[in-house]
Amino acid sequence: MTTRQMPKPSEIFDLVQFKRPELDPRKRRLDSALTIDDLRAIAKRRTPAAAFDYTDGGAEGELSLARARQAFEDVEFHPSILNDVSAIDPSTTILGDGSALPFGIAPTGFTRLMQTEGEIAGASAAGAAGIPFSLSTLGTTSIEDVRDANPAGRNWFQLYVMRQREISYQLVERAAAAGYDTLFFTVDTPVAGARLRDKRNGFSIPPQVSLGTVLDAIPRPWWWWDFLTTRKLEFASLSSTGGTVGELLDSAMDPTISFDDLEIIRRMWPGKLVVKGVQTLDDARKLTDLGVDGIVLSNHGGRQLDRAPVPFHLLPTVAREVGADTEIMVDTGIMNGADIVASLALGARFTLIGRAYLYGLMAGGRAGVDRAISILAEQVTRTMQLLEVNTVDELGPEHVTQLTRLAPRTLDPALHV
Ligand SMILES: Cc1cc2nc3c(=O)[nH]c(=O)nc-3n(C[C@H](O)[C@H](O)[C@H](O)COP(=O)(O)O)c2cc1C
Repeated sequence: MTTRQMPKPSEIFDLVQFKRPELDPRKRRLDSALTIDDLRAIAKRRTPAAAFDYTDGGAEGELSLARARQAFEDVEFHPSILNDVSAIDPSTTILGDGSALPFGIAPTGFTRLMQTEGEIAGASAAGAAGIPFSLSTLGTTSIEDVRDANPAGRNWFQLYVMRQREISYQLVERAAAAGYDTLFFTVDTPVAGARLRDKRNGFSIPPQVSLGTVLDAIPRPWWWWDFLTTRKLEFASLSSTGGTVGELLDSAMDPTISFDDLEIIRRMWPGKLVVKGVQTLDDARKLTDLGVDGIVLSNHGGRQLDRAPVPFHLLPTVAREVGADTEIMVDTGIMNGADIVASLALGARFTLIGRAYLYGLMAGGRAGVDRAISILAEQVTRTMQLLEVNTVDELGPEHVTQLTRLAPRTLDPALHV
């Protein structure tokens, strides 16, 4: 028999604590997100389907993206024990300077379409967190405005070598003049990947309005209010070059770009040069021999060649072969700080996040990007503590097994990487 007693009113406050209601709806919304997936769910509710799908989707059957995420899920960690991890340090150095966390923001085009604070939110949040921000050639905020939003932090510029080469060369000069320290030369876009969601949604810039768009807009009035009452959506760094959005977009993908272009850009660019979109060991070796400062193992977030290699699978071999001679970064599929820690353990010097940041942006503008960064930062820190390492340099292959659900049937590196 349970003996019961009535609590004294004064004791009630010892037994339960009353939570003060959060009156700011944006903060309430963002505080409720504990993972990047939670931010994605909020983003989906608040963003028109065409803009959300443009961000969320991949090419063709979206196998590259699904596999990249699965590869991260298939990580087994091996923690050590009885180390003091009360004050760990997740900072690192990359391309000659520091970063407070072992990840930076990847370049993404059309960013203000997702949420109008766009690159300004990303760059200022990155600056506040002490991590690098990358601006795309197809960004919707200019090179100079991004620098002004992140004046003391690190800004990186991503270059598409355009059909009209002069346009790209001017961008390279502007980025150098604005103090960007690193140039990412993206090489996995000879033509555009087939983004079927965009085709099905009739995605276009400016947005095409159909009955479907109107119905989709009804539950998302704030997005439309923002979109219609803020600066016009355009490729801001390219706007002075003339040409419609469609013409500029067409010009950004040039099937003729080659190693000669890399050489020209290298001669023009005074800072660090990184090639983004490397997908084989052979190319990693070739670029390392050419003396580039870094490479990004990436399949463009699964948005270009579907069934492309999973970058995280390439990582151990590429790191073993060229990691001493160039700085290796990895992206595609990162949704959790544990993915970042696993990448560092297998030889990446740094990682980039694309969608993880954009989900935050769509969920709540600048505050949403802050939330995305802090979720990943907490996950990185906690994972390092649970692995019982104090610094990113202590992470090594002994901390990770890649489970083999997706491994190639033969593991001959000559054939598969
Ligand atoms: C909406 C969107 C736009 C992108 N635009 C560019 C771009 O303009 N230039 C580029 O090099 N990569 C672009 N990327 C690829 C990212 O830089 C990065 O490689 C990719 O997002 C990493 O995968 P994740 O989204 O799973 O993190 C884009 C990615 C997304 C999601």
